[in-house]
Amino acid sequence: MRVVIAGAHGQVARRLGRLLSSRGDSVAGIVRNPDHRADLESDGVEPVVLDLEQASVEDVAAVVRGADAVVFAAGGGPSSGVERKHTVDRGAALLLADAAEAAGVRRYLLVSSIGVEQARQGTPPGMDPQFAAYLQAKLAAEDHILPRPGLDTTIVRPGGLTDDPGTGRVTLRHGVERGQVPRDDVAAVLAEVLAADKWGEVVELVSGDTPIADAVASLT
Ligand SMILES: NC(=O)c1ccc[n+]([C@@H]2O[C@H](COP(=O)([O-])OP(=O)(O)OC[C@H]3O[C@@H](n4cnc5c(N)ncnc54)[C@H](OP(=O)(O)O)[C@@H]3O)[C@@H](O)[C@H]2O)c1
Repeated sequence: MRVVIAGAHGQVARRLGRLLSSRGDSVAGIVRNPDHRADLESDGVEPVVLDLEQASVEDVAAVVRGADAVVFAAGGGPSSGVERKHTVDRGAALLLADAAEAAGVRRYLLVSSIGVEQARQGTPPGMDPQFAAYLQAKLAAEDHILPRPGLDTTIVRPGGLTDDPGTGRVTLRHGVERGQVPRDDVAAVLAEVLAADKWGEVVELVSGDTPIADAVASLT
């Protein structure tokens, strides 16, 4: 399988790249900083330098053409400001969708966030405006990408990410309460979704008791 990861130097993305390359998949990773190329190469991932806030649909389509799936794991990050929630968390996710469609790549795995449904009701009193903008941007990305007939999309909404070692056990289903989950386990779930070819799912992901392969296999 050939997979293109957007935001490939991110903490989840690097774990995913290493998992995929170590099981024999062909992996390309989009990074914006040329200094990150060497890290990707050491992970067994082919680096492609593109800034997803500047690139055109054609630029990204040229990278994803021929892939079996794309993964959006980029993010503006917690201190990036409201504007970059729109340009990265929403805009770059939509750019990847446009590019996948243009290149004839059907499978799109979107890393979203637990709590996005909250954004449908507006901003709750007291919520940090940056976090509210983040949830709105993630929700807008989901709402624009999921219904596209040209894409088979699965959306994984992790809880709060930690750097604790993965446990290999999760709760993965729609309607899960807030919780945390190690980045190791998020990457392992994404790798398993790709391997098991599970599309059309919208699921929250937190730590739990179910082995990852079983949790993914139980998706409809
Ligand atoms: N933190 C949480 O608790 C939490 C919870 C739920 C979901 N999530 C989501 O989970 C995903 C993965 O999180 P993470 O912790 O692995 O994220 P991360 O380490 O912050 O990685 C995000 C990556 O996106 C890249 N990026 C940003 N702007 C870009 C651009 N214009 N072009 C290309 N790449 C760009 C960054 O590159 P640079 O290094 O060049 O900036 C970075 O490598 C994100 O979508 C995040 O929103 C996070």
